[in-house]
Amino acid sequence: MIEVEYAQLVDRLKTAIDREELVTATISQPRSKSSDLRRVKLKPVLLKETYHIQFEYQYERVMKHKNLLRDEAMQELVALLDSFRQGQFQLKSSDVQFQLSKKFKVTFKERQTTAKQVQLTHNREKQYVLPLHEPVPFLIRLGVQSEDGNVKRQKYDKFKQINRFLEFIEDSIKHLPTDRTIRILDFGSGKSYLTFALYHFLHEMKGYDVHITGLDLKKEVIEECAGIARDLGYERLEFLVGDINEYEGESAVDMVVTLHACDVATDMALARAVRWGAKVILSVPCCQKELNRQLDAKPLDVMLQHGLIKERFASLATDSIRAELLGFVGYEAQLLEFIDMEHTPKNILIRAFFTNREASAEERARYMAFKSLLGADPFLERELSDRLVFPAKEDVK
Ligand SMILES: C[S@@+](CC[C@H](N)C(=O)[O-])C[C@H]1O[C@@H](n2cnc3c(N)ncnc32)[C@H](O)[C@@H]1O
Repeated sequence: MIEVEYAQLVDRLKTAIDREELVTATISQPRSKSSDLRRVKLKPVLLKETYHIQFEYQYERVMKHKNLLRDEAMQELVALLDSFRQGQFQLKSSDVQFQLSKKFKVTFKERQTTAKQVQLTHNREKQYVLPLHEPVPFLIRLGVQSEDGNVKRQKYDKFKQINRFLEFIEDSIKHLPTDRTIRILDFGSGKSYLTFALYHFLHEMKGYDVHITGLDLKKEVIEECAGIARDLGYERLEFLVGDINEYEGESAVDMVVTLHACDVATDMALARAVRWGAKVILSVPCCQKELNRQLDAKPLDVMLQHGLIKERFASLATDSIRAELLGFVGYEAQLLEFIDMEHTPKNILIRAFFTNREASAEERARYMAFKSLLGADPFLERELSDRLVFPAKEDVK
């Protein structure tokens, strides 16, 4: 590190911004210990095909963003140098590091690096179904947003998860009735982020006539959710305490959703959905224990001897079995990536639309062979046994 004049530092940063050299930067170490703003991250973004710098302000509890044109960005950067003591800039072909002392003396280092790629991402905010900076009443009540509409830092993953789920809902709407109330059940709704999001999106944003029920075993959580729904005036959103497997309140349901319903709770929900003739099933499973216990497949021991691999294998095999079984009772079922692994390892979404498809004899035989290889006796198959037809064992090669 060498000492340089403050003006030299500002000059270097200005050149970097003017020449679009910035890859990413972090300004940290607030001068004031009481500052709520902890650090600011910078990256270039394209907005309407124009170069901007995005400032991400990381506060104690929330994050805020601002996209600024070059000149405004430079002014903002100089203002930040008044309040922070450290900067790290990754530029196209160098890394810049600096420290500012109490009296604004600058120690500075620039190290040449191999050329880096400048990722000019388009502004991603508009891709969220729910607005990122506008207050949404249910998100505030559930503690995802603060009163001013900013998403709380520690709730960012939840916010993304909710939005991703709503993207799938948006794609599924065409399978739902338009001439009557759409009946939706969220099984294992827990704190009910998703249930509220569904209601907000379908009823408040899209104007659909819906009746949504969130069901969970936890009485206190359900009572709290029911209170929030009442406060928000969400009249067609109800919350019930109960067990998925014993829930008998329906004769027909249009859509069943589950998000992280543990172990076979997901299967119970799928079986219920099938019996009620749900046109749409969206289910993100959770931990998987049933097949993990049953697995007995010598040819796979090279994998299954490792606990971690066995656990993942059991989950993947279970979801494949679920999709296959849904395919045998008239559904087009797909396994899709729910959200990237960075946010949660539970990232497979089972999406099934009822099309009354006929499964072929080959598919059924293939399933039987797979099950027999694993030594599996799936809960969902047992639940749907009266609706499933399989070839005789001796016909399965
Ligand atoms: C991991 S939490 C997920 C909650 C919520 N869907 C979410 O993603 O925020 C799983 C929830 O499923 C509920 N659950 C598990 N088994 C259930 C069952 N048999 N009947 C009803 N709810 C169940 C649990 O009480 C828990 O709240």
